[in-house]
Amino acid sequence: MSAPLIDPFARPISYLRVSVTDRCDFRCVYCMSENMTFLPKKELLTLEELDRLCSTFIRMGVEKLRITGGEPLVRRGILTFFRSMSRHLDSGALKELTLTTNGSQLGRFADDLFAAGVRRVNISLDTLDEDKFARVTRWGRLKQVLNGVDAAQRAGLRVKINTVALKGFNEDELPRITEWCAERDMDLTWIEVMPMGEDIDSTARIGQFWSLGDVRATYERAYTVTDLAERSGGPARYVRLEETGQKIGFITPLSHNFCESCNRVRLTCTGELYMCLGQEDVADLRAPLRETPDDDAPLEAAIRAAIARKPRGHDFDYSRQRPGGQVAGQMPRHMSHTGG
Ligand code: GTP
Ligand code: 5AD
Ligand code: SF4
Repeated sequence: MSAPLIDPFARPISYLRVSVTDRCDFRCVYCMSENMTFLPKKELLTLEELDRLCSTFIRMGVEKLRITGGEPLVRRGILTFFRSMSRHLDSGALKELTLTTNGSQLGRFADDLFAAGVRRVNISLDTLDEDKFARVTRWGRLKQVLNGVDAAQRAGLRVKINTVALKGFNEDELPRITEWCAERDMDLTWIEVMPMGEDIDSTARIGQFWSLGDVRATYERAYTVTDLAERSGGPARYVRLEETGQKIGFITPLSHNFCESCNRVRLTCTGELYMCLGQEDVADLRAPLRETPDDDAPLEAAIRAAIARKPRGHDFDYSRQRPGGQVAGQMPRHMSHTGG
């Protein structure tokens, strides 16, 4: 193994998020515009190329690999990729191989993912109401996702539900979603909505922002809330609801910045490396990948050079607006480009 990856702020980089496709079978309103143009297939790295890239990162100290999209399970041949990556679980180099999914394809894939060594999935779900689900995902059907959740649990996968907190949308569903997760022994993580996507109406988004401080206060009115020290390697901070014993996570990019403990970078399906979700700087890994197919040294050097540019953090700030209505720190690219 080569020397570990350490960024300029002394943060070890041990978590790689890999977006294997920019496509998705949903069009969530905070993630995509209605008329998205996707990359032509020829622009994508092959699964073999993605394998080589991920394996290089693992050799450089990455211990957690999260496959994202778009929707990762719509990428053709994706199971082959999971099966291939599982060799790094077997060797002990990788501690966790996992994915973030909208759940729509889990009915088909859950058993095979478990067989490939996946033990945990994060499933995005913002509402348990069929009509609201159709509205927020534009193209999604709740029933299909609930079937996916069932399939994942039946396959033995531990499920965490990711819910974007949206004022005036799912505020009233907090008790129902919480109880549903408790009944099914699933963890639940709330996420503050981030200003991503230049064509997504930021005025609407400011109105939708529901601070997780308020979400916590809502829990405190009904439950005894205890802070937990444990971490899952991501940005969530957890509490336990003593009455039910369930774990609730909070991802608070806006209300409480967690960048100081950032341990991750993001690879896209074209071989770009984003050093921060909330910054534009990007490093091209495709060129060194393709130029020297039999020598990983230039690729490793490009990865080290990229990590040496990792910024301190994002600049998202709804309280400051720029002329034209965009909020401070808003990212022009869509969330689906890097998979969150
Ligand atoms: P665990 O392994 O369960 O802790 O998952 P995770 O939180 O690392 O991954 P997940 O894909 O569930 O992340 C949930 C969401 O949190 C992402 O889709 C993003 O919206 C947000 N998120 C994750 N990492 C970062 C980050 O580094 N910065 C910011 N601003 N948001 C992040
Ligand atoms: N802000 C916060 N979370 C977002 N997601 C997508 N777009 C946004 C946004 N603008 C979440 C999805 C999913 C994960 C991939 O990212 O709900 O849980
Ligand atoms: Fe697809 Fe996830 Fe984006 Fe929704 S949030 S459109 S499910 S990639």
